[in-house]
Amino acid sequence: MTVYTHFAKTVGDYDTVADKVVFKNDELHQLLIEAMPTKKEKKLQILDLGSGTGHGMKLALEKYPNSAVTGIDFSPKMIEKARQNLSKYTERIKLLKKDFNFYDFSDQKYHVILSAIAIHNSTDIQKEKLYKKIYDSLPKGGYFINGDFFKTDSKLIDKRLLELYCNYLKSNLKGKELEC
Ligand SMILES: C[S@@+](CC[C@H](N)C(=O)[O-])C[C@H]1O[C@@H](n2cnc3c(N)ncnc32)[C@H](O)[C@@H]1O
Repeated sequence: MTVYTHFAKTVGDYDTVADKVVFKNDELHQLLIEAMPTKKEKKLQILDLGSGTGHGMKLALEKYPNSAVTGIDFSPKMIEKARQNLSKYTERIKLLKKDFNFYDFSDQKYHVILSAIAIHNSTDIQKEKLYKKIYDSLPKGGYFINGDFFKTDSKLIDKRLLELYCNYLKSNLKGKELEC
């Protein structure tokens, strides 16, 4: 199954499983938002790559009441759910159903580009191209904040972290939900 098929077709309501499949999901999002510029009155253009159901977008919209937030996600189900979850903010949001690896967003400037648990799905070559687009669309002093799975320099540590993650999934999921 491709990443696209998984998110476009099989993930019914991500909001109900997010905390089960993403370790400390809420804390991760809080950290991403805390890493953003501190002045709340700033009029920022913010981009969320792989915005899902709008969790990160909502926190950004709340933190910066004068700002606009664009979400890019290739899953129609996620886009639809994000639109529902963010219905209070219709005038300050844009939701683009695009694949961020192929869609060129770099002709637009964003003060902050954030992403949570999305870019790891891309190949190394795709990531390299994506990071170039991100760099090109940030103004000097702009922020790229990414909360995701990363490999370390140690195979041993990676193996242990994977085991811990598998145990986390096993304690939260049942039967077919579990692919580990
Ligand atoms: C695990 S979910 C995380 C959603 C959200 N960032 C959150 O943390 O709640 C990953 C999201 O990234 C999206 N995604 C993954 N690869 C993508 C790509 N190449 N282009 C656009 N969206 C992508 C999926 O459709 C899915 O909604």
